[in-house]
Amino acid sequence: MDTDTAAVLVRREGPIAHVSLNRPAVRNAFNGGLIAELHGAFEALGNDGAIRAIVLGGAGKSFCAGADVEWMRSSLDLSHADNVDDARKMSRMFRVIDRCPKPVIGRIHGAALGGGSGLVAVCDVAIAAAGTVFGFTETKLGIMPAVISPFVLAKIGRSHARALCLTGERFDTSRALAIGLVHEVVAEAQLDAAVARIVSEVLTAGPTGLAATKALFARVAESAYDATLDLTAGAIATQRTSAEGQDGLRAFLEKRAPTWAK
Ligand code: COA
Repeated sequence: MDTDTAAVLVRREGPIAHVSLNRPAVRNAFNGGLIAELHGAFEALGNDGAIRAIVLGGAGKSFCAGADVEWMRSSLDLSHADNVDDARKMSRMFRVIDRCPKPVIGRIHGAALGGGSGLVAVCDVAIAAAGTVFGFTETKLGIMPAVISPFVLAKIGRSHARALCLTGERFDTSRALAIGLVHEVVAEAQLDAAVARIVSEVLTAGPTGLAATKALFARVAESAYDATLDLTAGAIATQRTSAEGQDGLRAFLEKRAPTWAK
């Protein structure tokens, strides 16, 4: 069953969920309503055993123009505590996508600016249409890339983050590709086919192993080698002796598809 809400659309196609930001008139800029819906959608899909891949895209001309400027301007009417609360909700939305146990594939087109580029950063694989414009433009508006900073720093590293966030300059797909913000650039007409190819790759990988890999990478990235040795050794020991691991290893040796890929 499809769940259509005002600001976020969720369409299911077997094990694939297509999540679409849906405020095209403002280029899918996010306000409090969109943030709550997107958070809710990813939380539900992350816990949904029938879903094995999530495609995140935007309706209309652009993927996402970042935070809604009108919504941010009205923050003057709120107390400092309420402003902090709003920002925490935005931060948790990025976090729930970043830590979603299902692979998240970004379908990026038009523009991805400010928090829109932040959303690209929390996708596991991002595919952009040629001509897409990126930018961490917050400083151009006198604000700052704050809640997206942990995810942006983790994705493109401090060197590129400093250069791009401090200038606020817009950049093209070749730079986005060079800094690892996106992983593939295709003609817009080929975007759905390129996304479908990544989804089909993901569907041939073991779902439990994928979720465990994402969770492990997140913890390893935050820790030093010594602190994660038991974690990484324990993870592979568990996964290779699991039913999924044993099925995958046997399938390779028996030259057949593993159970989950049938
Ligand atoms: N917040 C609120 N409204 C926004 C918005 C945002 N972040 N980005 C765009 N809009 C609105 C525009 O004000 C315009 O409204 P209008 O139709 O009432 O005039 C509408 O969306 C369409 O924008 P427009 O600039 O005409 O569309 P475009 O397709 O030519 O360009 C963008 C799209 C995204 C490149 C351009 O709108 C833009 O640069 N937006 C600013 C993005 C930004 O800096 N975001 C960072 C926020 S921290």
